[in-house]
Amino acid sequence: MKGVILHGGAGTRLRPLTYTDVKQLLPLAGKPVSEYILSNLIDLGIDEVNIVLGEVGHNEVQGYYGDGSKWGIHVSYTYQGKPLGIAHAIGMVRNFVKDDDFVVALGDNYFHNGFEVLSRDFEEQGKEAYIAITEVPNPRQFGVAELSGEKITKLVEKPKNPRSKFAITGVYFLRKSVFPFIDSLKPSSRGELEITEVFQKMIDAGMEIGYSVISGWWKDTGTPEEFLSCNRMALEGLVSKGVGKNGTYSKAYMGENVTIDSRSKISGPCYIGSGSRIVNSSIGPYTSIGRNCRLEDCNVENSVIMDDVSILIDQSLKVKDSIVGSASVIKSNGAGEKSLRVIIGRDSKIEV
Ligand code: TTP
Repeated sequence: MKGVILHGGAGTRLRPLTYTDVKQLLPLAGKPVSEYILSNLIDLGIDEVNIVLGEVGHNEVQGYYGDGSKWGIHVSYTYQGKPLGIAHAIGMVRNFVKDDDFVVALGDNYFHNGFEVLSRDFEEQGKEAYIAITEVPNPRQFGVAELSGEKITKLVEKPKNPRSKFAITGVYFLRKSVFPFIDSLKPSSRGELEITEVFQKMIDAGMEIGYSVISGWWKDTGTPEEFLSCNRMALEGLVSKGVGKNGTYSKAYMGENVTIDSRSKISGPCYIGSGSRIVNSSIGPYTSIGRNCRLEDCNVENSVIMDDVSILIDQSLKVKDSIVGSASVIKSNGAGEKSLRVIIGRDSKIEV
């Protein structure tokens, strides 16, 4: 089996971060979202992965994953450019796929438990396609699967009046038989080739789509709230695996050369990237800090702070539920504000 990870899309819901950064490379607990997916694929024994690139940040994605040798696999690339739809992106990888079965994952989704059970079901059931679905409170925002017994009877993209609460998650197990269905698609009202329509066409042609209901361990990082929620899950994952744990602080995970002075308080689960310096600050829980950050006199909770950020404020001003883009600076001007919530992109400067 081969693997495909989508890195295109517009990322409008994560602006301004996505004006300058690829959303699939935004870090959760010190690692890009899509690197978790790559690990999920490697855990399946996949050693050939194709990354579909969008307009924004394609050089960064190629710079990060290179030829894949860092992970002991082979990574190649397909340039999609404009976000013409998930099905359009999948249609572009047929030369990579050739005659093999393949699994496509959306690079901004986070699957806490990996793909092993799903992959086994796909192989065993032998159906033409296999998807993971999950119950959601707001099905209008998703592709929705209608079920009857063991069968998916209908798939509808963002229905106005949903007849099911089961949303399609961002992993699809496919065979080359999918490509003619993609070729027969027309753009939807939002101008995209929709993956739900591909599956619907397959059902209409008499094919069965296998599915598994998963709960509690899938997230789409597409909005700031979801992104922070994924960060919490990824930090919990570090705790359960116990990787890189620093003996001094409970549930705190760190890169190399992190310095923390004796006045600082670190409450896990949290992650602090290499070369960062924490002075007289309170960090965590559920906070990820990137590399080479400088946090002085600050109090941060449930936030993602990306690389090269400086936060130089006053401990009484709490930074909470925030996402701070790389190389941003937040510093105090002594005005005495008490809390701050920001979603700010690369190179921002804020004085409070
Ligand atoms: P979405 O989150 O549905 O779309 P988007 O990335 O354009 O974001 P927004 O809705 O906030 O504007 O995309 C799901 C995933 O699929 C994501 O990882 C990006 C990827 N994708 C592509 O690679 N190509 C595409 O043409 C589209 C639409 C999405």
